[in-house]
Amino acid sequence: MLYAIGVLVIISLIFWSHPFASTRAAVSPDLQHTESSDHSNTITNTTLGVQKIFAISLPSRLDKRDNIVLGSSLSDFHVEFIDAITPDDINPKTYPFNWNYDHRPVEYAARRSHLNALQKTVHERLGSAIIMEDDADWDVSLKTQLQSFAIAVRALQPTDPPSHTHPNSHSKSPYGNDWDILWLGHCGIECNPSEPSFLTPNDPTIPPPHHFLPYRRDEPPQHRPNTSRLTCTITDGVCSLLYAVSLRGAQRILSALSANPSHLAADIDTGAQFDVSLGRLCGSGYIKCFAPYPALTGGYRPAEAKGKGSDINGEEGEVGRPFGGDVEGPFSHGVLFSTLMNMERLLRGEATVKATWEDVDVVEMGLGDVEVLEGSIESPVMKI
Ligand SMILES: *[C@@H]1O[C@H](CO)[C@@H](O)[C@H](O)[C@H]1NC(C)=O
Ligand SMILES: *[C@@H]1O[C@H](CO)[C@@H](O)[C@H](O)[C@H]1NC(C)=O
Repeated sequence: MLYAIGVLVIISLIFWSHPFASTRAAVSPDLQHTESSDHSNTITNTTLGVQKIFAISLPSRLDKRDNIVLGSSLSDFHVEFIDAITPDDINPKTYPFNWNYDHRPVEYAARRSHLNALQKTVHERLGSAIIMEDDADWDVSLKTQLQSFAIAVRALQPTDPPSHTHPNSHSKSPYGNDWDILWLGHCGIECNPSEPSFLTPNDPTIPPPHHFLPYRRDEPPQHRPNTSRLTCTITDGVCSLLYAVSLRGAQRILSALSANPSHLAADIDTGAQFDVSLGRLCGSGYIKCFAPYPALTGGYRPAEAKGKGSDINGEEGEVGRPFGGDVEGPFSHGVLFSTLMNMERLLRGEATVKATWEDVDVVEMGLGDVEVLEGSIESPVMKI
């Protein structure tokens, strides 16, 4: 009932319908500076500071693969595809015993596709990976944004986890060493009010609130000026459009959602769609999850006939016949200076990019104008 919107997990595969006072403890600028320069060249590498980037995509949707390949080439990172599976591919015996059969097979297929990406992360012993769905979109300054995010999220992990608890399951990550999920592209989170958060002021890549994705959760209780980005420990999240997972996180999620759900299933309902289950795992404390607010990444829909819809909810279509409805778009959701919306400008070598919307303070920005940003730790808004 709480999660009545059963289609949330697939929201990114479909057409997105539309779009307390805290005390400040300044982080020493010197310290931050040294730390960020230590890590900046790994975050700007071709795997964005993790070991691999996976995009989940149906092998037949070659058009969506074009978007991801072209967009990542413009932003200089490398993506590997994970074949999304369809209900036809599902062996009924793969369902965990506690799967909630009220959800549709297509929702299980979407969850299983994410689990396959996590399985690969564990299989290849990747220290960390980014997993995205195939209609993700990101800001042209993603690499700079990620460096700022890393400063924030590292500040929230002051100590490493005890190494004996997870031998070989975490490596030195530029995003810190005590995280399971960095939920970068979401459509709603709950920030833990009993934990410190981090505020990064004057971020020119934040859309104004009226252009936020439709968020399925309330705004965090932490104070946030419109131009500041908040980073916090989360107790829930929705939409698995793009996230980073550590090896430890991938192991834990694979255990909870497939290999051995019995223990956790007694306490939390993990028989739901992937994003809903993931949010519950974050809330249970079994995995440690962080997120920026608003989300760092968003979604893209190219110009297409309205009737086409999504891989999951759209018409099937017939080869050689157009889909019904007027052509609409392209649209970007949640990203102010969208890579995919600006692809022609970028390919023409223009020096500026256009904002996704006209009614924003800055409608055109120079490439490279965004800088790595420092910020400050904020005290919990609620005392335990
Ligand atoms: C990018 O940096 C990360 C973190 O240091 C590292 O694990 C990864 O292997 C690097 N990627 C490449 C392609 O060198
Ligand atoms: C923040 O954004 C909201 C919604 O767009 C707007 O109503 C409000 O005036 C903004 N606040 C400031 C200080 O600009």
